[in-house]
Amino acid sequence: MEIYYFSGTGNSLHVARELKKRFPEAKLIPIIRALKKKTIRTEAETVGIIFPIHALTLPWPVEEFFGKLRTGPATYLFAVATRVCFAKVFLKINRLMKKQGITLDATFSFEMPETYIPVFQVYSNEKIREVEREVQKKLDVIKKTIAAKEKHLPKDPGGWFLFSHILYPLITQYFRKIRFSGMEKSFYADPACTGCGICEEICLSGKIKMKNGKPHWQSNIPCTYCFACIHFCPARAIQIKNRNTCQRGRYHHPSIKATDIMEQKECTTPSIKLPVGFLSVWQADNDFCLSGYIEYGHKIVILSGKLFISNTSCSKNSIASFFTVSLAFYY
Ligand SMILES: Cc1cc2nc3c(=O)[nH]c(=O)nc-3n(C[C@H](O)[C@H](O)[C@H](O)COP(=O)(O)O)c2cc1C
Ligand code: SF4
Ligand code: SF4
Repeated sequence: MEIYYFSGTGNSLHVARELKKRFPEAKLIPIIRALKKKTIRTEAETVGIIFPIHALTLPWPVEEFFGKLRTGPATYLFAVATRVCFAKVFLKINRLMKKQGITLDATFSFEMPETYIPVFQVYSNEKIREVEREVQKKLDVIKKTIAAKEKHLPKDPGGWFLFSHILYPLITQYFRKIRFSGMEKSFYADPACTGCGICEEICLSGKIKMKNGKPHWQSNIPCTYCFACIHFCPARAIQIKNRNTCQRGRYHHPSIKATDIMEQKECTTPSIKLPVGFLSVWQADNDFCLSGYIEYGHKIVILSGKLFISNTSCSKNSIASFFTVSLAFYY
């Protein structure tokens, strides 16, 4: 089983981890990392996708993910929204995968704590605990459905027709088009900012760059609206202009740390890249020197080395007797 997830404040990651507890063989894969591929191919028998709801629909990276997903013909495919949503959201997923001839076998959506602080207060600790108890019960039921590979495709209640067929498309299209009223241009750090740089490290789009010890939201990089920067800032210093966000509290799932969110964009397998332009080899006396870099996730390790050639036992092609890594730093 493979479980793909996108999570800004930890709710969806928590659900992914809880499902893994119920299916220990499941592999958890962050959508942000998977998106680096042109096509996301999987041969897994069961594939799950877990995500939050943004403006009543799929977050942008999740939408992109479904456009790239290619599964086997017999794959059992399920989706979990970590917020109650219309069945229309799942129909949209089927539409995105239509070309590949894939459709969802099971869909689930349930209540999890609020994170949209431009409008709503975060939940109290008591309410968070209450919601968590319900989540655990839901997940036990979901486990049975998935284990039996049952079809589970609930429809919207009849009375919701007007909302789900007319108001829903209008609202989602409007918010998507105006990108949440251009809110990404209104993020700022207030004087409580300590310059710790966590917001830059956690930002799932790479939009935040530290400049002179303060975060700067780069206008040329679109925001995913994950709200990780806002909710994980230890000083609660990130605000949105004219949205009263300093009054609304901050939330992240109690079991999820900032580093867990950051890991969504980390690459766990090092890839070695030594482009010709950067690899340089030169000779000084009897020593050969070389330099290059290794890319490890988002970190660049610069290496420079020296080959000491012994006069007595070495021909020109012989291997060095010493190799020293003289410099390594993280960018
Ligand atoms: C930008 C944004 C928009 C949101 N829009 C909605 C929404 O339309 N409806 C809803 O029920 N919850 C909405 N939420 C709340 C999240 O979907 C919900 O808290 C989710 O569980 C967060 O998951 P995560 O912690 O994995 O990111 C929104 C949250 C954010 C940050
Ligand atoms: S995480 Fe908060 S305190 Fe740290 S640099 Fe960013 S805004 Fe400032
Ligand atoms: S700027 Fe904040 S909300 Fe936007 S992608 Fe980065 S962390 Fe997420």
